[in-house]
This record gives sequence, structure tokens and C-alpha cells, in this order.
Amino acid sequence: MSSNDSTGKTLLVAAALCVFCSIFVSYAAVALKPEQIANKQLDKNRSILAAAGLLEPGKKIADLFKRVEVKIVNLETGEYLTEANATTDWEKAIVANPAAYDQRKAVKIPAQSVVLDPAVDIASIKRQPKYATVYLAKDEQGEVETIVLPVSGYGLWSTLHGFLALKTDLTTVVGLGFYEHAETPGLGGEVDNPKWKSVWPGKKVFNEEGKIDIQLIKGSVDPASPKAAHQVDGLAGATLTSRGVSNLVNYWLGSSGFGPFLAKLKEQGV
Ligand SMILES: Cc1cc2nc3c(=O)[nH]c(=O)nc-3n(C[C@H](O)[C@H](O)[C@H](O)COP(=O)(O)O)c2cc1C
Repeated sequence: MSSNDSTGKTLLVAAALCVFCSIFVSYAAVALKPEQIANKQLDKNRSILAAAGLLEPGKKIADLFKRVEVKIVNLETGEYLTEANATTDWEKAIVANPAAYDQRKAVKIPAQSVVLDPAVDIASIKRQPKYATVYLAKDEQGEVETIVLPVSGYGLWSTLHGFLALKTDLTTVVGLGFYEHAETPGLGGEVDNPKWKSVWPGKKVFNEEGKIDIQLIKGSVDPASPKAAHQVDGLAGATLTSRGVSNLVNYWLGSSGFGPFLAKLKEQGV
């Protein structure tokens, strides 16, 4: 047996290889982290633009996103968070850089979130942030055209995270889309199907009396039905995900979600 075949040398080579590989993998994970975060943000921004109908093939997301103003809303009062009403250090930090605020992280911080009463928690989210980010998409003249609201709620297997975009009448849907979920591809995962997403624009989320009125139904909507504008085709074979989508849309439009904010906008104008 040559000296290179000794047990000691074999173990040494194996150990050296392990150390080299672990250093390489750790370095790659650390070095690529900023890029991963930037890509996640880009994907979220793409989803916001898609809900607002502002995606244009061939144009950069960052350029298109320049038309979007990021604002932070106090969900309880419906008011924007500003320098004038920010009192705590963390509120002041959000005002200083609203684009960096992550409401999904805030949900995990007790001071920045609230526990929901199960009786109102129809979206099964358990906690919600005190502040939510809203996106005001503007036209070329700088006038607000679309209001994009982050929405989330439980489907069958997962919490779906996405955006609901409304026209400035605060009733007509411009688009709905999800950027994260773990529903089954081909069943609940059909929430990503462009054909299903295309049934949302034009739907009305409030009725004549100003009450929330939007539901996913089993099967297809009868276009002749007087309720057609307030109904959306359910996902075939995915009644539970469909119910989850109905619930989350209803939750976020309601009094525990963006209800106070939408009421303020109706009162004061967009
Ligand atoms: C492997 C597997 C994955 C499923 N994934 C989903 C899903 O993502 N969303 C959903 O609503 N139902 C899903 N279902 C079906 C549900 O269990 C349930 O049968 C369905 O929601 C009922 O819908 P239907 O009344 O339209 O058939 C899945 C079922 C199986 C066996």
C-alpha cells in the first residue's frame, strides 16, 4: 500500500474537501444574499405593476416603478403615517424610508402588530401589522390612477400574498395577483393562471350601498346575472383555495383591513 492510500491521508483529504466546500457554500450564501433580497423586491414590484396593469414588455421594472408612490397607512385610523404623526423611533424610521418598510416582518414584532380576534379573522392570518404599505400608481401627468393594496390570507396549504388594485372610484378592480403561495399547481395554483386573473378587471368590490360585495363562486359567472359584476369564477377543483381568495379579499376591504383607509379616501378624495 503506497503512503497515499493510508487511512490517515484519506481522512485528511475528505476533511479538507469538507472544509473547502463548506467555506464555498457559506461564502456563496452570504455573497448572494443582497442579490436575493433585490430580486425578491423586484418580483414584488413586478407583481404590483401587474396588478395595476402597468407592466410593459421590454421596459425595466425599476423604470416603470417610478410611476408608483409608496405610502404607509395606519390600518386602524386609515391615515397616512407622516412625520407629524410618527411618535416612536420605529415609526420615524418608517417615515424616513417608507420603501424599506416590510409589513410581513412587522407582523412578527409585537410592538408593530396586533393579534386578531378569531371572530374577525376570516383570512386566517392571526396577526396583522399596525401599518401597511399602499402603492399609488400615477399617470403621465402625476395624477393617481390606481391604488394597489397588499392582501394576504390562507388558502388550503399556504398563506397567499398578493396585491389588489382598484381604480380611483375605490370600487372597480384593475387587477388581482399573488406573488407568493404554496397551493397545488393545476388546482389552487391556478390563481397564477393569466386566464383566471383576466376575469378580475372590471369587477366591483362594493355594491350601491357601499357594502363589500365580491365573491368567488363555484363554476363560471353567468354574464347575464345582475350579480355578475360582484362575482368571480371559482377555481376548478380548488374550492378551498377559492374560498380563501374570497375571504382574503373580503377581509382586506373590511373594517379590520383597509376599510378605514378607503373610507378616508372616499371622504377626502384620492
Ligand atoms: C394532492 C391534492 C392537492 C390538492 N390541492 C388543492 C388546492 O391547492 N386547493 C384546493 O382548493 N383544493 C385542493 N385539493 C382538493 C381539496 O382537497 C378539495 O377536494 C377541493 O378543494 C374541493 O374542490 P371542488 O369542490 O371544486 O372539487 C387537493 C387535493 C389533493 C388530493
